[in-house]
Amino acid sequence: MTTVTLRDLTEEDRERLHVWRNSPEVAAYMYTDHHISRAEHNRWFDGLSADPRRRYWVIETDGKPVGLANLAEIDPSHSRCAWAYYLADPSVRGLGVGSFVEFWMIEHVFGALGLNRLWCEVLISNEAVWKLHQSYGFQREALFRQHVMKNGQYQDVVGLGLLAEDWPALRPALKARLEAKGYQVD
Ligand SMILES: CC(C)(COP(=O)(O)OP(=O)(O)OC[C@H]1O[C@@H](n2cnc3c(N)ncnc32)[C@H](O)[C@@H]1OP(=O)(O)O)[C@@H](O)C(=O)NCCC(=O)NCCS
Repeated sequence: MTTVTLRDLTEEDRERLHVWRNSPEVAAYMYTDHHISRAEHNRWFDGLSADPRRRYWVIETDGKPVGLANLAEIDPSHSRCAWAYYLADPSVRGLGVGSFVEFWMIEHVFGALGLNRLWCEVLISNEAVWKLHQSYGFQREALFRQHVMKNGQYQDVVGLGLLAEDWPALRPALKARLEAKGYQVD
């Protein structure tokens, strides 16, 4: 059985995240695709700890760092936040790690953080991800037309959202699905 954990960032992740974010396997799914310089990366990394609106975790499988998950725009006044994640290492894709991260993040946001709404944006071309979100109960709420310029071409972006009140009814079947894939959740 593979163990997936999400842990806080450490200084050792500074270089790792720079390499991941510039890799074609990750940059292809991000809004910006220019090469990120060390200085730009360092400004971003150094700004994380002081920003209460953002949280980042390194995703590990059996203790090996394989990806990054984050919350953004954490907004207590509206009781909501956005999220995103990537699996940088293609060798761990298709094994259920993404499913585990979906479940973990939903539980964290509605449980530990006690927020009411979790939302995200996904490039329409990234069908695997928005379908995965939908399978975890996210509803497609928006289509932002020509929202992002990727490789010199406009791309549409799908907006999805999940409400805390919808999660209890969804949770048992999704927990069972994860367990069937060999992942243990509480
Ligand atoms: C899409 C992605 C994040 C899913 O994570 P994963 O660990 O590979 O997903 P899982 O193994 O948990 O699979 C979840 C479901 O999605 C399906 N799926 C996964 N990758 C898929 C793909 N490329 N195309 C179609 N379906 C896919 C699986 O068949 C599975 O379906 P099931 O639950 O009915 O069995 C990952 O495969 C991926 O492509 N990462 C690169 C892009 C990325 O990181 N995007 C995020 C940007 S926010």
